[in-house]
Amino acid sequence: MTPLNTPEWRSLERHYSDLKYASMREEFALDASRFEHFSLTSGDLLLDYSKNRITKQTVEKLIALAKSLDLSGWIERMFSGEAINTTEGRAVSHIALRNRSNTPIKVDGEDIMPSINAVLAQMKQFCDQVHSGEWLGYTGKKIIDVVNIGIGGSDLGPAMICDALEPYGVGGMHVHFVSNVDGTDLSTTLENLNQETTLFVVASKTFTTQETLTNAQSARTWFLQSGQQADVAKHFVAVSTNAQAVSDFGIDTENMFEIWDWVGGRYSLWSAIGLPIALYVGMENFERLLDGGHEMDNHFKSKAFEENMPVMMGLLGIWYVNFFGSQTQAIVPYDHSLARFPSHMQQLDMESNGKVTNRSGQRLSYKTGPVIWGTPGTNGQHAYFQLIHQGTQLIPVDFVLPVNSHYPECDHQSILLANGLAQSEALMKGKSAEEVRAELVNEGLEGSELESLLPHKIFPGNRPSNTLLFPQLTPEMLGQLVALYEHKVFVQGVIWNINSFDQWGVELGKQLAKAILPDLKPDSTISAHDSSTTSLIKLIRQLTKR
Ligand code: F6P
Repeated sequence: MTPLNTPEWRSLERHYSDLKYASMREEFALDASRFEHFSLTSGDLLLDYSKNRITKQTVEKLIALAKSLDLSGWIERMFSGEAINTTEGRAVSHIALRNRSNTPIKVDGEDIMPSINAVLAQMKQFCDQVHSGEWLGYTGKKIIDVVNIGIGGSDLGPAMICDALEPYGVGGMHVHFVSNVDGTDLSTTLENLNQETTLFVVASKTFTTQETLTNAQSARTWFLQSGQQADVAKHFVAVSTNAQAVSDFGIDTENMFEIWDWVGGRYSLWSAIGLPIALYVGMENFERLLDGGHEMDNHFKSKAFEENMPVMMGLLGIWYVNFFGSQTQAIVPYDHSLARFPSHMQQLDMESNGKVTNRSGQRLSYKTGPVIWGTPGTNGQHAYFQLIHQGTQLIPVDFVLPVNSHYPECDHQSILLANGLAQSEALMKGKSAEEVRAELVNEGLEGSELESLLPHKIFPGNRPSNTLLFPQLTPEMLGQLVALYEHKVFVQGVIWNINSFDQWGVELGKQLAKAILPDLKPDSTISAHDSSTTSLIKLIRQLTKR
């Protein structure tokens, strides 16, 4: 159903007209318990959403919208294994991968839990063998370097988790991620590695992805500079749905870890796509990650919308995109080990909700997924925060703040936290002309000097943010966080009436790249393109060093 036609949407439009100039700063001054009203918990995770341009009425109206669009029904459909990814005819069951209660989840009438458990057992056995030295390289040496070759969902999620869980790394194990077809990525990764002690995990749901297969072939060529064909089995394993393609590539299907059609790439880090995580931090810690994801699933499934974190974050996003006209959303972790978190969230959100067609195939007349971006604090403060504070766009920010660091260096953590809190406070409060004037007078400025500087130092404020606060970045907490954002994306897809689980928008570029590739050969006949593309192809052919 089109959300625009619901009375709840129209009611939100009227509410927006009444509220658009309301000041958060005044709301905070009027209501001493604003934080209590607008914060939620799930286990040790706190969401403070009080610094948003909302009143209690806004929340009620957003929840009424979610109810009118049958959000509960959609949650139920996803958790029960229904084929809600209609354009690909698939269920959406990443929640089953972390279903630690092990209750049956049926896809096409069959309980998928036994296959999930079997792959988890296979992963555990393999990790134990590698860590204990039972699985050795071809010259009898222990494996110490794992190179994951994958791209998109077969790279970003596991890479982000491995960075974030570095303090939990198994002693002596190193993990590397190669994704880009740019040869620089593979070459610089392999530069310092030794064939005898390196294991490649070729991760591709389809096993047809050009970048991954090209990198995997080159990795095998590198391996064969030292090992023999018969040794490949000890150094290459695969994660895929496509046993035939794995075998055609030359990897023994005995060394293949299965994934399934019902898990989308960007939701797959919980499956065997997470093998590099388990190899790096151990299966026990991988399972703790799954536990955290499962905890958030239970929260999402069972909590009333008023107390439901993914629902609230999803609805706040709708409020800004569709009523305030925000086009982007920043995610800023105040944790250096979460440096890749925004990139994973970018794929998760933008590949899911970057859609212009509704579930029934009609073109949409309203905005959907925003641009997701961000880098860790405090670095971002010295780069792009200027625009968030004083620019002309409204950019909601999610601050992600662990209270304790795994690296408690003197005062670093309190400085980091103070900065994170200061940013959200500054965005909300801003600085008025009167405050700037008083400050400048205090500094001894007056007359035209003061008047000309004053407007530049005003902060409009009233800029929204959420704060996610938790004691420490443990595997469970990370699992909760990732699952929180997955469900937030789902909530928004339901409101926008789009299928968040296909990604047809990536196909055209792939098709055209295949057509252009032969055109780059020196003497080939260039196929039909626009004049820009043809001229660029000709220039590349001229400039290519042979
Ligand atoms: O091109 C987009 C995409 O299909 C993503 O959705 C996916 O995560 C990525 O490519 C990699 O796909 P695969 O795991 O099949 O190699």
